[in-house]
Amino acid sequence: MVDKTINKCLFPVAGYGTRFLPATKAMPKEMLPIVNKPLVQYGVEEAHEAGLHTVGFVTGRGKRAIADHFDISYELEHQIDGSGKEHLLESIRTLINENDFAFTRQNHMMGLGHAILSGRNLMGDNPFAVVLADDLCVPEPGDEGVLAQMVKLYKQFRCSIVAIQEVPEDEVHKYGVIAGEPMKDGLYRVTDMVEKPSKEDAPSNLAIIGRYILTPDIFEKIEATEPGKNGEVQITDALLKQANEGCVLAYKFRGKRFDCGSIDGFVEATNYVYEHVFKQD
Ligand code: UTP
Repeated sequence: MVDKTINKCLFPVAGYGTRFLPATKAMPKEMLPIVNKPLVQYGVEEAHEAGLHTVGFVTGRGKRAIADHFDISYELEHQIDGSGKEHLLESIRTLINENDFAFTRQNHMMGLGHAILSGRNLMGDNPFAVVLADDLCVPEPGDEGVLAQMVKLYKQFRCSIVAIQEVPEDEVHKYGVIAGEPMKDGLYRVTDMVEKPSKEDAPSNLAIIGRYILTPDIFEKIEATEPGKNGEVQITDALLKQANEGCVLAYKFRGKRFDCGSIDGFVEATNYVYEHVFKQD
């Protein structure tokens, strides 16, 4: 019987982050800090809160800093021992102690679908979440994170789920966009999905952001997917096959999302987190 327990999360982090050059020349985009924590740590914390404690990374060249970040630095800990700064390492130490981390490589940059397929050995035959760490999601005070919301839905519906957000019409070309039949409370059953459509071709203004829950049959669907727009294997093409053959849900989540893969979104996130999260702690 297929194991339907969900406790794994995949982070595709092989991209070059060209929009942040030269900052990303020798440092992964996912290690850029929002105030005092790298983007990827926010993502792993969100997964941890959702009960996803097996964490896989699909990395590429020049991404070793991510593996080092999720490993203990004995020398550093020894150095700050007794200095009063120990608490600064507490959040990362908790993640290291309570999660399993595994790494694999995407040797050729062939798009998000291909990156997810590269993580197949890490995720196995289980449902799993996918986080694009450059989409930073911050819950409203007292609320749970987006992945925790999605895991609850997965336990109810047992099918793939994408997180969506309404975006202005002139921004739909940056996203995968869905058409769907409304079910309840911000939940849609996906009927169509178009990757980076023009304003005219977009089926709606409901854009997919960097949080997914995928059932493991997605891997066969990705394998059978030809490279689409820009020669990349798109995850949306594989998801559309799942939607046509079974069910894919789209969920308008609670909370704020910042596109930290863009300079504007990154600065906005920094200001927001400084005011509303960092100063409140
Ligand atoms: P992006 O296209 O936003 O990331 O991919 P990028 O290519 O790193 O950024 P720019 O456009 O050059 O500035 C979204 C996410 O998917 C991952 C990226 O690492 C990023 O987290 N990704 C994308 C892969 O891991 N492999 C790919 O082939 C493509």
